[in-house]
Amino acid sequence: MEAEDLERLRSRGVKQLFIRHSDRAQYQAYLRTIADTAFSTKHCHQPGAVTAAVNEVVLDVLQSAFASGNDDHLIESANELGTLTAKLITSDGFAAGDLLNVLRHDYATFTHSANVAFYCGLLAAETGFSSDEIQKIVVGGLLHDLGKLDIAEKILCKPGRLSEWEFRTIAMHPTIGFRRLARRSDLTAHQLLMAYQHHERPDGQGYPTGCVAEDIDPWAKICSVVDVFEALTSFRPYRSPMSRKRAIEIMAAERGAAFDPELLSCWIRIIQNCSAS
Ligand SMILES: [Fe+2]
Repeated sequence: MEAEDLERLRSRGVKQLFIRHSDRAQYQAYLRTIADTAFSTKHCHQPGAVTAAVNEVVLDVLQSAFASGNDDHLIESANELGTLTAKLITSDGFAAGDLLNVLRHDYATFTHSANVAFYCGLLAAETGFSSDEIQKIVVGGLLHDLGKLDIAEKILCKPGRLSEWEFRTIAMHPTIGFRRLARRSDLTAHQLLMAYQHHERPDGQGYPTGCVAEDIDPWAKICSVVDVFEALTSFRPYRSPMSRKRAIEIMAAERGAAFDPELLSCWIRIIQNCSAS
């Protein structure tokens, strides 16, 4: 299909196109070409389209990597996606608002992980991490909930109140993910701690260990802030998504107790700047 064909369909009011499953690889290659072409030229004319293409690539590659159950393949994919995302976030013309506009907000673990990874990248860039660190932080974000893949879907997506046993089962996912990743030698300690400590809180009321602020890794603190924001602003089986404004209000009320106060302030600034633009 050529650009003129797309224009003709658009002029007739067609807003959505379906792609045959057998053409998926070709479509992914096309999206990567859009992203690569944009990154290889100094000024990108359509940064919003590039951001949308990167989001589609990340979602698709991560979904198949999670489904494969093969950790070598998963880490290789996560590294590739981390590089693509870090390039996007640090490129000229990139706007966080473009990214927020294209993210999906269902409750699939791969969508949540992709969104958390993008948010981790935004917060890391804003707090002065280098491109190389941003790439690794994004990879940690993609892998932070890996342990959930070993927990039954019916518990993760249960619409009603969780029993104590169900809650304890879900609360095991940081430990499960950490154990699965810690066997490897190609991830950093910070990345492993993003999986292990992203539900810890500075006041010691988090899990799995209930450690306090000084014992929580800085990368895990980044992951914790954006993880909660992502969860609040996405669909859950038992509720609709909250507005960004409401999510920020709820999080600000727990500043210092549940979140690192400086990282939370920085995150709020990023979101407010996107909403204002
Ligand atoms: Fe989690």
